[in-house]
Amino acid sequence: VAPSSAADGPSRAPFTAEIAELIEPFAPPVVSFHFGLPAPALVQRVKGWGAKVLSSATTVEEARQLEARGVDVIIAQGLEAGGHRGMFLTEDLDTQLGTLALVPQIVAAVRVPVVAAGGIADAAGAAAARALGAVAVQVGTAYLLCPEATTRPLHRAALARAAERPTAVTNVFSGRPARGLVNRAIAELGPMSPLAPPFPLAADGVAPLRAAAERQGSDAFTSLWCGQNPSGCKAVPAAEITRAIAAGLV
Ligand SMILES: Cc1cc2nc3c(=O)[nH]c(=O)nc-3n(C[C@H](O)[C@H](O)[C@H](O)COP(=O)(O)O)c2cc1C
Repeated sequence: VAPSSAADGPSRAPFTAEIAELIEPFAPPVVSFHFGLPAPALVQRVKGWGAKVLSSATTVEEARQLEARGVDVIIAQGLEAGGHRGMFLTEDLDTQLGTLALVPQIVAAVRVPVVAAGGIADAAGAAAARALGAVAVQVGTAYLLCPEATTRPLHRAALARAAERPTAVTNVFSGRPARGLVNRAIAELGPMSPLAPPFPLAADGVAPLRAAAERQGSDAFTSLWCGQNPSGCKAVPAAEITRAIAAGLV
C-alpha cells in the first residue's frame, strides 16, 4: 500500500506480484531493488523476462546475501550517499561503512560486478571507484540541481548553499535512515528517533508541519536529501554531469 507520502516521491509501494504484472509487458532490461529483495519467486519472475537485477548493499553481509539470491550486479552504497540508505539486514548505523572502505571489501567478497555509490561527484571520484574494483558508479546528489530533476524549489535553494550546513542520517522524514542537510526537524526530532513511525508512514506524520513551514517559505521540516559530497551538484544539464564523471571511468 502506498500511503500519500506525495512529499517524498511518486510511490513507496513494495514490489508485489501485482506490480510485477504491471511492469512485465514493458520488460525493462534492468530492475533495481533497494531495501533488500522481494520474495524469491518475484526475483525469478523479473529475471524470467530477461532483466538484469541490481540491488544495493551497505555491508559485506548484505552483498553476500544478494549474490546468493541471484542478483546480477551489486551496488555498494557507502555511508556518504545522499537520500535513503539501502540497508536491510540491520538497523545499526555503526555497521555502515564509507565508500572507500566498503567497495573493496564487497569486491573481494562476491563474484558479480560491483557498482560504487556514495560521495562520487566528479571524474576523480569515478576513477577512484574503478581503482577500488568497481565496474561503474551510481550518482545521486550531483544530479539534484539539474533542470531535468524534479527537485523542488526549497530543496534546490538549500542544495545551492549545501556547504553552509552539515548532513546527517535521519529517520524522521520517512521512518528509514536517509542522509539530508540538517534542518530543524533533524536537529530537534532526531537525527535518529525511536519514535519515528515505520517506513514510509513517518512521511505522513511530518507532512502537516512540513506543509505549514513550506507555506512560509521555510525548509525547517522538509527532507533536504543530500550526500556528504555536494561539490558536483550544479544547475547544468544531466548530460554534462554524466560526461564529466564518465571521463574518470575510461
Ligand atoms: C534524492 C535522493 C533520494 C534517494 N532515495 C533512495 C531510495 O529511496 N532508496 C535507495 O536505496 N537509495 C536512495 N538514494 C541513494 C542513491 O540510490 C545513491 O546510492 C546515492 O545517491 C549515491 O550517493 P551520492 O548521493 O553521494 O551520489 C537516494 C539519493 C538521493 C540523492
